[in-house]
Amino acid sequence: MEERIYVPSHVAIVMDGNGRWASKRYMPRIAGHKQGVDTLGRIVSACPSRGISVLTVFAFSSENWNRPVEEVSGLMDIVVLALSREVPKLQREGVRLRFVGARDNLSVRIRTGLEEAEFATVTNSVLTLNVCFNYGGRWDITSAAARLAAAGTPITEHSLSAAMAMGHCADPDLLIRTGNEKRLSNFLLWQAAYSELYFSELLWPDFDEQALDAALLEYATRERRFGKTSDQLVVPANLHA
Ligand code: FPP
Repeated sequence: MEERIYVPSHVAIVMDGNGRWASKRYMPRIAGHKQGVDTLGRIVSACPSRGISVLTVFAFSSENWNRPVEEVSGLMDIVVLALSREVPKLQREGVRLRFVGARDNLSVRIRTGLEEAEFATVTNSVLTLNVCFNYGGRWDITSAAARLAAAGTPITEHSLSAAMAMGHCADPDLLIRTGNEKRLSNFLLWQAAYSELYFSELLWPDFDEQALDAALLEYATRERRFGKTSDQLVVPANLHA
């Protein structure tokens, strides 16, 4: 009998542990974030060959503004630098970049950088990389609901999902958090309702292709029931059409 491996088409990741990775090496926290960008590049490159078509990562949360000023400005610099360095590689690999999050309180420099990177990759279709930046799940739900209410549109599951910042793609099948913490931290609160959760003890800069494969193997063993019983499942729900 043919053996099938069930792969998630949409993987979301909380890239946690950059600061600890750097501290362990007596380096400034920002060095961990720099290493984290390299790890992200490797994981992005690994996705298409594993059948993943959407990757969503948490790069900067609405709450991260509360970090020390030098870490926040360091992270902003890293993003601008990473965009100029990584966009040509994303182009070669057919990756479409989308930034998900509030833009109104970002500096013109950052906002322009995000918009230019999105524009440059808009026709790519091998992988969609959603970078949640200045993002929070509660912000996403409340701002979508407020927009619908202002337009007089009835709020339903369907209308709200479509109005939210991730309305352009299906919900994540698998949500990975590295860094040995087990919480959502305001990431994709609405969209992760039925995601399979996977927690890795590795700090994000140490996460690699092998660690990704371990998460995918674990996912393949999960039975996604979406509220039903096992007996009701004709086709395993983690098999995508
Ligand atoms: C969490 O680790 C990580 C972050 C808050 C930032 C992650 C950002 C990147 C990897 C850069 C992404 C850049 C682009 C261009 C997409 P932490 O600092 O909370 O680590 P800790 O828990 O060890 O302190």
